[in-house]
Amino acid sequence: MPSASRDAPRKVAMITGGGTGIGRAIGELLAEDGYDLVIASRSPQHLAEGAETLRELGARVLSVPTDVRDPGQVDRLFERVREEYGRLDVLVNNAAGNFPVRAEDLSPNGWRAVLGIVLDGTFFCSRAAFPLLREARGSSIVNIVAAYAWLAGPGTVHSAAAKAGVVSLTRTLAVEWARHGIRVNAVSPGPVRTEGTDRQLWTSEELVKRIEHGVPMARFGTAEEVAQAVRFLVGPHASYITGQVLPVDGGQWLGRGVMDFFDEGAHGNASSAPPSRSPD
Ligand code: COA
Ligand code: NAP
Repeated sequence: MPSASRDAPRKVAMITGGGTGIGRAIGELLAEDGYDLVIASRSPQHLAEGAETLRELGARVLSVPTDVRDPGQVDRLFERVREEYGRLDVLVNNAAGNFPVRAEDLSPNGWRAVLGIVLDGTFFCSRAAFPLLREARGSSIVNIVAAYAWLAGPGTVHSAAAKAGVVSLTRTLAVEWARHGIRVNAVSPGPVRTEGTDRQLWTSEELVKRIEHGVPMARFGTAEEVAQAVRFLVGPHASYITGQVLPVDGGQWLGRGVMDFFDEGAHGNASSAPPSRSPD
């Protein structure tokens, strides 16, 4: 997208979880496109590091420590945006939490922690952003989801259920808010190595290899590749696109459940035959 002309007011984008990983990569591309930025997450250190990188790219950056699970903190975040910038053109709901756990071992509090960040946080931020986005007209929201929202997420039941909720939210808000000039879309990354996922998810090289093997393009994606899709969806070339989920995953989700005749064993050796029973 060409940068705004010198006299036009600069557009403003808010990225939750914008201090790290994919969120920071989205901020970098939007800064290049001439946006001023707001980044919000819990850790002042994440925010300080992210803001420093983004300012080096010429963006004005407001960083606001916020837990997106708390609607009061979220309302104050958007009040700050109105005070400091007086406008908002783009909201990227990127903040998330995740950890592998068997469903039967997940405590109610663990369930609430992830649902709270991913599903409540996305709704609270979208709701609080609405007045500013409506005033901007031609504005948009992008939610970052994952393919287990519509497949299955064994080992991450909390995150899969939460992302499924976010896909539903994406479609519903797209329809409700189209009349207000707000487009709402989602991007679904495949596996991407970030500090957060290396700590929480891809915790062994054996697992990394197994994940790579399940991706038709046979590699992890990069945060920048995901960010390019967000850049497209918020930009002028996507002006008639709303309510859609764009996978950026090297074909990973298509590979699930597909019988691969040329790569025996790629999808595991589990038999679909029922367990044999001895005759009664
Ligand atoms: N396995 C099982 N349960 C776990 C767990 C794990 N690896 N990690 C956290 N939990 C449980 C805790 O035990 C606690 O439940 P309890 O009170 O019943 O014991 C609950 O989850 C909340 O944990 P807490 O550490 O208090 O939550 P938090 O709000 O400080 O942190 C998380 C939220 C748990 C999601 C944390 O992983 C996080 O901050 N993640 C952000 C980074 C991230 O996940 N990046 C990857 C994005 S895809
Ligand atoms: P990440 O760096 O760990 O990003 C998560 C961000 O969320 C952090 O900046 C974190 O900042 C913020 N956050 C967590 N809890 C929060 C809370 N309660 N309130 C506000 N902010 C909070 O991981 P990532 O890989 O870049 O993930 C970014 C997005 O991509 C997530 O939505 C994730 O589900 C999605 N995704 C990632 C992959 C992948 O393989 N990387 C695959 C599919 C989907 P603080 O710690 O400062 O709060």
